[in-house]
Amino acid sequence: MVFNRYAYPLLSAIVIVMIFSHAVAFDPLDPTGNITIKWDVMSWTPDGYVAVVTMTNFQMYRHIMSPGWTFGWTWSKKEVIWGMVGAQATEQGDCSKFKGNIPHCCKKNPTVVDLLPGVPYNQQIANCCKGGVLASRGQDPSAAVSSFQVSVGLAGTSNKTVRLPKNFTLLGPGRGYTCSQAKPVPPTIFMSADGRRRTQAMMTWNVTCTYSQILASKNPTCCVSLSSFYNSTITPCPSCSCGCQNNNSCVTSGSETIRSVVGTNKPAINKAPLLQCTQHMCPIRVHWHVKLNYKEYWRVKISITNFNYQVNYTKWTLVVQHPNLNNVTEVFSFAYKPLAPYKSTNDSGMFYGLKFFNDVLMEAGEDGNIQSELILKKDIETFTFKQGWAFPRNIYFNGEECKMPLPEDYPYLPNSAHSNQIVSLTLAVFLLLTLLAFW
Ligand SMILES: *[C@@H]1O[C@H](CO)[C@@H](O)[C@H](O)[C@H]1NC(C)=O
Ligand SMILES: *[C@@H]1O[C@H](CO)[C@@H](O)[C@H](O)[C@H]1NC(C)=O
Ligand SMILES: *[C@@H]1O[C@H](CO)[C@@H](O)[C@H](O)[C@H]1NC(C)=O
Ligand SMILES: *[C@@H]1O[C@H](CO)[C@@H](O)[C@H](O)[C@H]1NC(C)=O
Ligand SMILES: *[C@@H]1O[C@H](CO)[C@@H](O)[C@H](O)[C@H]1NC(C)=O
Ligand SMILES: *[C@@H]1O[C@H](CO)[C@@H](O)[C@H](O)[C@H]1NC(C)=O
Ligand SMILES: *[C@@H]1O[C@H](CO)[C@@H](O)[C@H](O)[C@H]1NC(C)=O
Ligand SMILES: *[C@@H]1O[C@H](CO)[C@@H](O)[C@H](O)[C@H]1NC(C)=O
Ligand SMILES: *[C@@H]1O[C@H](CO)[C@@H](O)[C@H](O)[C@H]1NC(C)=O
Repeated sequence: MVFNRYAYPLLSAIVIVMIFSHAVAFDPLDPTGNITIKWDVMSWTPDGYVAVVTMTNFQMYRHIMSPGWTFGWTWSKKEVIWGMVGAQATEQGDCSKFKGNIPHCCKKNPTVVDLLPGVPYNQQIANCCKGGVLASRGQDPSAAVSSFQVSVGLAGTSNKTVRLPKNFTLLGPGRGYTCSQAKPVPPTIFMSADGRRRTQAMMTWNVTCTYSQILASKNPTCCVSLSSFYNSTITPCPSCSCGCQNNNSCVTSGSETIRSVVGTNKPAINKAPLLQCTQHMCPIRVHWHVKLNYKEYWRVKISITNFNYQVNYTKWTLVVQHPNLNNVTEVFSFAYKPLAPYKSTNDSGMFYGLKFFNDVLMEAGEDGNIQSELILKKDIETFTFKQGWAFPRNIYFNGEECKMPLPEDYPYLPNSAHSNQIVSLTLAVFLLLTLLAFW
């Protein structure tokens, strides 16, 4: 067996992924991705302060989808919320100590949600009221910000006496984010609209929340299937990629039960989604088809299918890692943006939908799929159809890494030698040991 140089990157990618999937909150394609929540104290009041809280999504391709973010914290002392603009606390709590003026929320650990679009103008502030939806920075930086204003009472009234809230939580909509402690930072400087006057916050503190897929869900939430023009075999998603049928309830497509339960776009936390029965049991399948071979170019078709009857995926993103993505020539039907993280190779990029055309991946059923084709320019040095080179190394849907088939199951070029499994296994073990030695 000739040592195959393409088996190496594939296997090392798998080994690295196996290791990284256990590391908390580190995304190799978006190493500095986070959601930063900044509290700007705009004024002190007789018993506390008024702050504008701004949430900025610095993640390139992970967003917060409808029904939006839920943000919580724990007060240090006996603080209360007198009022909020552009958001609301979900529970008022026990305000029985108060006579006359009743606070908006008296809970020790308030939970805040965004208001829905369309609230009256005098109850809004800039960047509020988006139903908690926060776009990814790569897709739409202007929609990656969300703000609200909070008036806090029974709190400190100067930068020496104020106590920072603690124990921040961010749900969006599932679990997965871990937030840091509040850290005082230099006060924000604000510029007036005409740029002629600068003002500054009385005090500012930042909280940083990072995402971990392992924390969000034990199993993958999407899988990849593969096919090619040179082999009629379709490599399906690995069975039980996201779960097994016997452990999860699911519905066969076209059954009567679907109609009675669809129509609630509320992926409740810790509640199993209503899925179409498949052998992979993933809500999302990404199919990569190597479609055509031109002299200097080659063509790929990507299809994304939704098997979830309860979710319309708004502002979805798809990240692909493939060595030829540095030479993307044309992308049809989707928007494309290369991801140039802190590394020397431009082998990854993000796709997302075009506004009003396919930026929503509809719930499972007839409309629950979207497609794109892309044309890539061959780099004569590295291009080959052999050994599955034309297939992606990794795929992420909405920032979640998708389960790939095993390399030995890829559709092969006819007459090309199968990779020897024993050699592959030895190589994998060797790589694993090498990597662990450097850990
Ligand atoms: C959060 O993300 C921003 C933008 O990528 C980065 O500058 C900042 O260092 C990150 N913060 C942390 C604490 O990782
Ligand atoms: C508090 O504010 C005063 C003036 O407003 C400033 O001089 C001082 O550095 C601030 N202290 C802290 C801890 O931010
Ligand atoms: C922090 O918040 C979590 C969830 O709201 C809660 O379970 C935990 O007890 C809190 N810890 C502290 C120290 O308040
Ligand atoms: C605090 O967060 C804001 C984003 O809201 C960011 O621009 C700023 O750099 C952060 N400050 C520090 C010191 O990290
Ligand atoms: C899932 O199914 C397997 C095999 O049928 C079984 O061993 C396992 O306990 C089940 N897990 C749950 C959570 O039901
Ligand atoms: C998805 O969107 C369609 C069209 O806007 C709507 O009819 C349907 O109820 C939505 N489905 C869910 C699960 O929200
Ligand atoms: C990657 O892309 C960036 C711009 O997107 C470019 O400056 C850089 O030279 C590229 N690197 C390689 C190795 O192609
Ligand atoms: C592919 O892109 C790289 C840099 O991104 C460039 O150096 C190379 O010439 C390109 N190859 C072709 C065939 O255009
Ligand atoms: C197509 O790929 C499959 C799966 O790798 C392989 O078993 C089969 O031999 C290939 N077909 C041809 C004609 O080479």
